[in-house]
Amino acid sequence: MALYKEGLAFRYIQGTKYHRDKSLKDNLGPIPAVRSIKTYPDAERLQLPKPDLSRSADLWQCLSRRRSERDTTPDSLSLNELATLLWAAQGVTARIGIHLLRTAPSAGALYPFETYLYADHIESVPQGLYHFNVQDFALERLKVGNFNRDMTSACLGQPVVRRAAAVFIWTAMMLRCMVKYRDRAVRYIPMDLGHVCQNVQLAATAMDLGSCPIGAFFDDDINQLLEIDGEDETALYLITVGKLN
Ligand SMILES: Cc1cc2nc3c(=O)[nH]c(=O)nc-3n(C[C@H](O)[C@H](O)[C@H](O)COP(=O)(O)O)c2cc1C
Repeated sequence: MALYKEGLAFRYIQGTKYHRDKSLKDNLGPIPAVRSIKTYPDAERLQLPKPDLSRSADLWQCLSRRRSERDTTPDSLSLNELATLLWAAQGVTARIGIHLLRTAPSAGALYPFETYLYADHIESVPQGLYHFNVQDFALERLKVGNFNRDMTSACLGQPVVRRAAAVFIWTAMMLRCMVKYRDRAVRYIPMDLGHVCQNVQLAATAMDLGSCPIGAFFDDDINQLLEIDGEDETALYLITVGKLN
């Protein structure tokens, strides 16, 4: 057999297939249920303004114009722009029972990820690392300071990260999805985040901002910056945002 077929990529797809003639039983043992939303109750809070949805944008135009933009300027994002991007990513649009439904779909409405922000130059937001509190539409401050070098170096030195006004970081909350979907969760979490990321790109396009998805990064460098364990919760996807000339 070709060696690449024994590698992780092939084994991952083959090993997580559903088969008509095979039971869904596995030998993973019990998987503990975890909280559906993460919060940092002791963190200082920055309440976000309501997103500005008054400026309409044509969906077809946004789809045609969407590009990954890497040359953003040193101009700051406004707090309203940031709030609108976060709403596009993970705004709560309906409540059904315990589920807070969002702007993007998620397998089983489990939303097995968290959104963090590195604010580099955003009006009224001191430079630093934040966690986005979905329920309260607020930022929770994790660390104050200039983490531009750390972020850029963690992302393989990519200049797009150095130039960005803001970097959103999405982490996978493995157990939140595995408790229902077991190993197949490894497919659904990146699918969920693909939707979220596209929402941010379309919202950025609608506001004439530049954004660029980032999949190339040293995972544990980002995990260490966020002080998360890199196992139950691990960084999976990032996007940069900034102003365009
Ligand atoms: C999963 C994923 C990971 C990506 N990672 C990076 C990255 O690390 N750095 C980068 O500059 N662009 C990255 N991109 C952007 C792609 O290079 C870009 O989408 C592609 O070249 C097509 O260009 P377009 O988005 O402008 O249509 C990534 C895109 C996706 C979907």
